[in-house]
Amino acid sequence: MHYVISYASPHGHYWYVAQVYVTLSQTVRRTNMEIVVSGIRPTGNLHLGNLYGAVVNCVKMQDEYDCRFFIADWHSLTTHSHPENIIESTYTILAEYLACGIDPEKAIIYRQSDVPEVLELYLYLNMNAYLGELLRTTTFKEKARKQPENVNAGLLTYPTLMAADILLHKAVKVPVGKDQEQNMEMARRYARRFNNIYGVDYFIEPASFSFGSPVKIPGLDGSGKMGKSEGNAIYLIDDEKTITKKVMKAVTDSGPTEPNSAMAEPIANLFSLMKIVSEPDTYQFFLEAYNNCSVRYGDLKKQLAADIVKTTKPIRDRILEIRGDQALLERVAKEGADKARETATKTIREVRQLIGFSAK
Ligand code: TRP
Repeated sequence: MHYVISYASPHGHYWYVAQVYVTLSQTVRRTNMEIVVSGIRPTGNLHLGNLYGAVVNCVKMQDEYDCRFFIADWHSLTTHSHPENIIESTYTILAEYLACGIDPEKAIIYRQSDVPEVLELYLYLNMNAYLGELLRTTTFKEKARKQPENVNAGLLTYPTLMAADILLHKAVKVPVGKDQEQNMEMARRYARRFNNIYGVDYFIEPASFSFGSPVKIPGLDGSGKMGKSEGNAIYLIDDEKTITKKVMKAVTDSGPTEPNSAMAEPIANLFSLMKIVSEPDTYQFFLEAYNNCSVRYGDLKKQLAADIVKTTKPIRDRILEIRGDQALLERVAKEGADKARETATKTIREVRQLIGFSAK
């Protein structure tokens, strides 16, 4: 008994000291880092295109920026007013991001709907957002065309909610693709407009940026990029059999007949995938085989499938493990929301003062 106590006590003490140290060092680091905000739409599972196009860069970003990643579940109501299993799909996305290496110790990761402060900012920004400019947004026009039966006010004000997501944290940088550039311009405009109306220099105009080198992953159907809506994606959650089947079905041609001939797009796509997931030697071997016309596409695909599985299997195993740990997911979501709300409540308090709802 005595032994246990004398052992447990110093151990507990060191552990505590270590925790404080970690917390302190993170807080210190955070204040020196630029704030990055990124919203993830809760649409379906992550695929290889998402992994190499965005998620690996988010993982690296965590070490260089004060990252706040959130799952934009409220935004999804603009297109699906009665989403099926929204809570389940947010947990799935959370599990997939964690499995890829998003680390709640380094980044704040939360669900948008857990941080209601964003709605208050959304309201204030909406009061200074004009119908004309919202109607002119390309993403709005596109969505309105796709769902003419449901052109709702949320859809129209999607850019103000997005601006609120970003301005709530006073983010300096936002990693977005080209398709979000107009929404980013609106976020900057709303920041500027707020500052002008209330005569303050409060909100920062967030810059769009691209971190690292996003790699475009081609689809397996011959042309274009991998995407969920294209129906050509290999998901991180796919098992070996599914992946092999998808790869073996990939489009090819009848093979080169002259040495060093140019590759048709479907073949070039297989090689680009191979370049990412296979060993350099393997890639070189098949490239030479192609160039001397001895390539056998069946072998190439088998090798490619095996190398994709080698890449995704550890992630898939982690996804399954994390997805099965509901307590862990709830804890991560709760801690993320608590941290996000620290900033959020501060922003709202200040904004209320600036508008005049409370004394300075
Ligand atoms: N509109 C983004 C997209 O479609 C998602 C999003 C919502 C977002 N709020 C954001 C992205 C804030 C960056 C910052 O992908």
